[in-house]
Amino acid sequence: MTLSTNIVWHESEVSKEDRQELKQHKSAILWFTGLSGSGKSTISTALEKELYIQGFHTYRLDGDNVRHGLNRNLGFSPEDRTENIRRIGEVSKLMVDAGLFTLTAFISPYREDRSLVRDLVDADEFIEIYVKASLETCETRDPKGLYKKARLGEIKGFTGIDAPYEEPIVPEITLDTNILSIDESIEMIVEFLKEKGYL
Ligand code: PPS
Repeated sequence: MTLSTNIVWHESEVSKEDRQELKQHKSAILWFTGLSGSGKSTISTALEKELYIQGFHTYRLDGDNVRHGLNRNLGFSPEDRTENIRRIGEVSKLMVDAGLFTLTAFISPYREDRSLVRDLVDADEFIEIYVKASLETCETRDPKGLYKKARLGEIKGFTGIDAPYEEPIVPEITLDTNILSIDESIEMIVEFLKEKGYL
């Protein structure tokens, strides 16, 4: 039985060797949430590179990548999505303990699941970043052609089409990618991290 179909591997732009040369600093989870195609992977990848350039230790966990390994036995039912996020939360907690800025890019459609992850770490160690784009925008982008498949009924339970996405109520950061460029989004996050004393 193949549960994890329609997933694609994303390369990181920062290697283990690069990380081993960096300095000590605060650690936290930067939790990106949003619809498929909203920009989570793109922005978290670019942010990881920017943080690395500034000398910070990072690790990025991405929906598609984790579903190739740790969570390869999970599909997209509500129960499996909840278990997906629970495991990622636990792994992220370990990474925060290891001193990393942990960037996670998962749809994480359920408020309660995100809230449980928030509660795993100290209050200032969870930064929720809502990557906000309208369904129309995501569907127009459709980088993997999955919305098209979902509309044709070839994928069942696709987030935004026939599965829910619960918007964050008070995220630490909202990035409206209908109007913000990638650089502007990165700048907003870096500003937040500086203002709050993380960087
Ligand atoms: S979740 O809801 O948080 O457990 O999802 P996640 O682990 O982030 O995985 C989302 C990526 O899987 C692909 N995909 C689907 N997404 C949503 N619904 C369904 N049914 C589905 N099937 C496959 C999709 O490419 C998502 O990637 P992103 O990066 O979000 O576009």
